[in-house]
Amino acid sequence: MNPQALVIDDEPDILELLSMTLSGMSIDCVTVETLEQANQALRQQKFDFCLTDMRLPDGNGLDFVMSLRNVMPELPVAVITAHGNMDLAVQALKSGAFDFVSKPIKLRVLRDLVATALKLSPQKTTLHTKERRSRHRFLGETSVVKSLRGKVTKLARSQAPVYISGESGTGKELVARLIHELGVRSEKPFVPINCGAIPADLVESELFGHKKGAFSGAIADKEGLFQAAHGGTLFLDEVADLPLMMQVKLLRAIQEKAIRPVGGNEEITVDVRILCATHKNLAESVRQGTFREDLFYRLNVIELQLPSLRERVEDIPLLAENIMERLAAKNNIAKPSISQEAISALQKYHFPGNVRELENVLERALTWVDSDEIQASDLMLPAQRQLDNMQTQSQGLLIEDDLESQLEEQERQLITQALESTRWNKTAAAKKLGITFRALRYKLKKLNLE
Ligand SMILES: Nc1ncnc2c1ncn2[C@@H]1O[C@H](COP(=O)(O)OP(=O)(O)OP(=O)(O)O)[C@@H](O)[C@H]1O
Ligand SMILES: [Mg+2]
Repeated sequence: MNPQALVIDDEPDILELLSMTLSGMSIDCVTVETLEQANQALRQQKFDFCLTDMRLPDGNGLDFVMSLRNVMPELPVAVITAHGNMDLAVQALKSGAFDFVSKPIKLRVLRDLVATALKLSPQKTTLHTKERRSRHRFLGETSVVKSLRGKVTKLARSQAPVYISGESGTGKELVARLIHELGVRSEKPFVPINCGAIPADLVESELFGHKKGAFSGAIADKEGLFQAAHGGTLFLDEVADLPLMMQVKLLRAIQEKAIRPVGGNEEITVDVRILCATHKNLAESVRQGTFREDLFYRLNVIELQLPSLRERVEDIPLLAENIMERLAAKNNIAKPSISQEAISALQKYHFPGNVRELENVLERALTWVDSDEIQASDLMLPAQRQLDNMQTQSQGLLIEDDLESQLEEQERQLITQALESTRWNKTAAAKKLGITFRALRYKLKKLNLE
């Protein structure tokens, strides 16, 4: 049996265009002109998806989307919006529509949307198994983390843009990947881009591509990241760092679902889901005038806030064990255990760098530990380290943000001194420093001293 679609629009021309396109895709289509007829059709038969206009003779499409979410949460609904009316599109997404298409309807955009709708229904895997899968990726059993995983699973079904906020190292990129992998786009690419790392004058060509000869250095046509992500997900990391000039162009690309390569004339339709993240406060960037309000509004259809590690200290034992297992496997060594005292030290520490910092702390401990159990003293948590380094503090006060690099510098100096005094005899130098040979070798590599 062909898939069944319900289409609601009071403009006969649009109804005809839609039903023709859908039959071309071997989809049976029931077309109605009012919400009352729509509700009647829904009572009479099952549909695979629904497409509705926003302004109808007997009500508005938004209320219809909301009521459907309550009575038939599994039925994917997309809305048709008037050209340029982004407010309504955003509201529809917030209300539970999985996507929107704006008038005049571009056939390629419509086909992409329909293809997505068909993948959403019937669900290939149940929400339940998906949630189980994400449990092994985004670890944690505290209620904040459990509820976060539930949201991620639901968001994976939508095509709405998601703004992932949270302190650095809280797992924003990991969550973005999960939203992609649990959704219908998982077979297509996940393309991450660090907006802060690309020079301002290259961002446009990176995102949209360029034509040969568009600027000096453009020796051939080049595809942009939007095209590379076609059918998949584009993850705009550190989006607050996007230059203002580019923000306008990004907004346009999102609204039109089309891009124009630098130096090119024709528009290319692209079907990408946009996820973004930044460790900065994006709303604050808007207030300061470094981030466009209209783009913020468009990207922040749904905000997912990641809790800091301080808000889930009960998860630290689980995370620590798991990270240690990963590190041990990577270094091909037996996994040391972590003493109870070390675990409580970790739970007392405030982790400004969150899970990533926990990974770093454990990796460092792994290189210094001499037994098969990690003790609190092996962790060298900053408060401890500050005390240890009292004598060498003449260089000035340790500033927390810069602690890591200052400590590395001190390590570098101490290790170099030891090596020089032993004429680069590593075994002797390690002994002098009171660390194992293995640990020294690791340090040398990490500090680029070899
Ligand atoms: N809940 C978790 N379970 C397992 N690993 C996690 C969890 N959260 C984060 N991680 C790991 O912590 C590290 C940092 O995560 P990620 O890069 O996603 O953070 P981020 O928020 O993007 O950080 P930044 O702001 O620095 O870019 C990664 O190695 C990730 O796999
Ligand atoms: Mg990141």
